[in-house]
Amino acid sequence: MPVMAYDLTDRIAFVTGAASGIGRASAVLLAEAGATVHCADRDEVGLRETVSAIARAGGAAHPHPLDVSDRGSVEAAVEAAASDSGRLDILAAVAGIMHSSPVLETRDEDLDRVLAVNFKGVLYACQAVARSMIATGTAGSIVTMASGAVDTGGPGLLCYGVTKAAVFQLTKTLATEVGPHGIRVNAVAPGWIRTPMTERHNNSEAQAHTAALMSRMSPLGRVGAPEEIAHAVLHLASDAAAFTTGQILRPNGGVAMPW
Ligand code: NAI
Repeated sequence: MPVMAYDLTDRIAFVTGAASGIGRASAVLLAEAGATVHCADRDEVGLRETVSAIARAGGAAHPHPLDVSDRGSVEAAVEAAASDSGRLDILAAVAGIMHSSPVLETRDEDLDRVLAVNFKGVLYACQAVARSMIATGTAGSIVTMASGAVDTGGPGLLCYGVTKAAVFQLTKTLATEVGPHGIRVNAVAPGWIRTPMTERHNNSEAQAHTAALMSRMSPLGRVGAPEEIAHAVLHLASDAAAFTTGQILRPNGGVAMPW
């Protein structure tokens, strides 16, 4: 019986960042659990690969090319997905970018760019999907993607960490506001996960140092895999988390243990 709580048969999911890394792993896992998955990303090639992988495994997926930092583009894709499938039960707002610069060298344009994708992009998706859930009377689940960077801090993480702290606040605030509609809102705050994003940044000496440091700081002695974060998304999206809302789930290998 407990395993049945993870069954997403007949559920409709909308996943941003679905072309790569954690978003792709989440889209694939939600589809394996039975959901129809609307996959959204600005990378159309990666998007097609994710949709094909889901279809090859016998699942149902639809591509939605979009830029999450463009409110109109997000609203149009969410509306298309909801009208195609009749409603939306799940949002996984995963799309995000990394930026690293020392505080004293951080420029307005760096902050604006990272805020536009990592915070406003999540906000626009949450607003569009929550409105759709309320309109259809759907007691759905919204999962946002924050980061363990908020817990650990670290050199260069000002812009990135600020946007992820804002996602914490959005998650908790929205949870209190849409709870009366039966809608749950939770965040996942992963530790260091091996994805194209971190591999790109591993090229720099500072980031390679951070990856090695994170492995050493973890009692498990390693960094994580995208599929391990996808399982956290599945948990929060499913009925297994029916009484969980306004929470931050931290799959970080034990790197940070808040009291
Ligand atoms: P990734 O780079 O592999 O995937 C990010 C995806 O977001 C890409 O497919 C990219 O095209 C998409 N994206 C970026 N900007 C977009 C935009 N404006 N519109 C539409 N799509 C856009 O990165 P990864 O590692 O899978 O990261 C996914 C999320 O997890 C991000 O929000 C990241 O901040 C978060 N995260 C990642 C960690 C890690 O160690 N990899 C740790 C903690 C959080």
